[in-house]
Order: sequence, then structure tokens, then C-alpha cells
Amino acid sequence: MTVLTDKFGRPMKDLRISVIDRCNFRCTYCMPKEIFGRDFAFMPREQLLSFEEIERIAKLFVALGIKKIRLTGGEPLLRRDLPVLIEKLARIEGLEDIGLTTNGSLLSHMAQKLKDAGLKRVNVSLDALDETLFKSINDSGVGPDRVLKGIQKAKEAGLEVKVNMVVKKGMNDGEIVPMAAYFKEQGIQLRYIEFMDVGQSNGWNFSKVITKKEIFKELSKHFEMEAVDPAYVGEVAKRYRYSGTNTEVGFITSVSESFCSSCTRARIAADGKMYTCLFAGNGFDFRELLRSEKTDEEIKEEIRNIWSSRTDRYSDERTAESAKHKKKIEMSYIGG
Ligand code: GTP
Ligand code: 5AD
Ligand code: SF4
Ligand code: SF4
Repeated sequence: MTVLTDKFGRPMKDLRISVIDRCNFRCTYCMPKEIFGRDFAFMPREQLLSFEEIERIAKLFVALGIKKIRLTGGEPLLRRDLPVLIEKLARIEGLEDIGLTTNGSLLSHMAQKLKDAGLKRVNVSLDALDETLFKSINDSGVGPDRVLKGIQKAKEAGLEVKVNMVVKKGMNDGEIVPMAAYFKEQGIQLRYIEFMDVGQSNGWNFSKVITKKEIFKELSKHFEMEAVDPAYVGEVAKRYRYSGTNTEVGFITSVSESFCSSCTRARIAADGKMYTCLFAGNGFDFRELLRSEKTDEEIKEEIRNIWSSRTDRYSDERTAESAKHKKKIEMSYIGG
């Protein structure tokens, strides 16, 4: 199979599929209640791709070189019968890895079912261990205990677990060290994520970003760490190991050290639109194609056209001005 590459020679290797645009959290930096309130128009069910449609499009992407699929949301565990979709995807020949990114609130009773369906890995978002602070961030009354229980159940079920912590200045600076200490003890990889300017509603600006360098400096006061080589080309996290342990800690540096030059990710939103960048303004409507008379070959040709003309490198080019003015899709819509 010839490798499908974009204008900068980047191959198309992973696919992130959002299965739902809803979330049961209202994280202040992602789905603030003022905007995502009772009146917010989420997608009606018939606009979401069905499992059959997701399976078909996933197969076509795998035929074009995708090796890894990650399911996202909103909160993907709100999508009814998600394990049924995972079972379908797990049967696709040539697909090597299926992951899920979740807020963990519904994970404890789903973990075993997800594992049995063929899921390999979960990335669980958790921004604080302090109960009051965590509740104020997710703005929906869920405490950290429920997420920690989900993490524990996922580990028990045999899923590989990583924890994602978005770090925002003035929000959870004080949790940087306690989170490291806790997950080091648990032997779970924690990844610090620099606060990004995704979407239109999270009030981002540079002054709210705590960079990898700053976090690393803080951690160095408490822990000894050594750099670990990337697991694969295009890995988004820079990883370190706590000396004398097998436990790693990572940094996702999309603001201070962008990684567009090795970005191999395609994204499909829950309504079937394909985006070639997290910061894209416009997507290509595959739902319409899937619901038309188009053949698999014709749809594949469309994917080839889109990827081969791709030039996105938003984070490499980000300036304070572009961050303010570009029309961008919301994180909860595209799934990160
Ligand atoms: P692994 O397969 O475990 O490496 O997953 P991942 O880190 O690619 O995915 P995850 O959903 O855990 O994302 C972690 C963070 O990285 C989130 O904040 C994502 O928005 C961010 N991220 C993932 N891919 C990209 C990307 O291509 N560009 C940018 N700017 N951020 C990304
Ligand atoms: N910057 C960085 N990460 C974000 N996430 C949500 N919004 C942002 C943002 N503005 C994270 C979530 C989850 C992942 C998919 O993206 O917390 O861990
Ligand atoms: Fe929070 Fe993730 Fe839900 Fe956004 S999608 S509100 S970051 S849990
Ligand atoms: Fe890829 Fe766009 Fe993220 Fe750059 S900003 S790494 S091109 S998704």
C-alpha cells in the first residue's frame, strides 16, 4: 500500500473519532455553563453517525493507512452501547490499537465491558485531587473519588491507563506536585497538558498558560526524572521516568513546543465531519457521503484528496493575534 501523505509529507496514521458532542461535565475551560447551558443546541440523534456508519468509515480509513483509533466526545461514555461500537472496530483487520479519552465519571461500571469489547487503553482527564477545587473546575458536582475509582477499575480490568491534567494558571497550579506524587505512587503515567486556545468560548490567552518548562522546574524540586525516547514518531507527549521506578510522567506542549511537523492525526466529529487539524475552521461532511449512493472507492478517493492537500500547522504558527481571530471549532465538538 502506498502511504498517503499530505503537502508536508506527513502520513495519515491515527484517527480520532468523536462519538457524541455532549458531556456530563461543564469544565470552565471547555464547556462553560454560560455558553453550554440548558438552551445549548446539541446534535439531535439522527445527526450523529450510527455505529454502522462509524464502522464503515473507520474501515475505509484503515484501508488508507490508519493504525490507531481513539474514541472521544464530549464524553464518549455517554454514547449508548459504546462497547458494541468497540467490538465492531476491534474486528477491523489492520487496526492495531483502540483507545478512549474520557472524563472517567462513568468508567467504574464500564471498564470491564470496554475491555471485553476490545479496548486497549484509556486516557482519563483529571485536573485536581482537591475535592472542592475539582468540583469548581468541572462545575457539575462530581468529586475526584468517582474518577479515581474509575481509574482503579480500568486498571483492574487490564486496560492501560494514563491521566491527562490540563494546567491553567490561577486554576490548578497548586495541584501540580500533589498530582505527581499521587500518580507516581500509583504507578500511573500522568501527563500535564498546556492550556490551549481551542474553540471560541474558553477565554484563552498566553498569560493563562503554564509551560512544560515551568512545570518541570517545579517537579524537579521534588522528584528526580530522566528523559525517555518517544514511543513512536508523532507522539504528542514528551516523557520522563522517575529515577529508580518504571513510572513515567509526560508533558503535552502544544503551546510552548508545538509538534505539527509530525502530526499524523485525522479527526471525525460526531456528525461525520472530517477535520485535518484540531484548530480547523471547516470540516468535510462524510455523513452526507455515507448516506448517499457513493461507493467505498469513491469515499476513499475523497479522503485521499483531503489528506493529500492538507497544509495545517496551526500550533507552529500560533500568535496572540491568530489565537484571537481565527474561527475555531469547540473542543467538546471535536474531542481534542
Ligand atoms: P495517546 O495515544 O495515549 O498518545 O493519546 P493522545 O495523547 O494522542 O490523546 P489524548 O486524547 O489523551 O489527548 C491528550 C491531549 O493532547 C489533549 O489535550 C488533546 O487535545 C491534545 N492533542 C492530541 N492530539 C493533538 C494534536 O494533534 N494537536 C494538538 N495541538 N493537541 C493534540
Ligand atoms: N487545552 C488543553 N487541553 C484541553 N482539554 C480540553 N480543553 C483543553 C484546552 N483548552 C483536554 C481535556 C482532555 C483532552 C481530550 O483535552 O481535559 O483531557
Ligand atoms: Fe470537561 Fe472533557 Fe467534558 Fe470538556 S469534554 S467539559 S474537558 S470533561
Ligand atoms: Fe496537528 Fe493541528 Fe495540532 Fe498542529 S495544531 S499538531 S497540525 S492538530
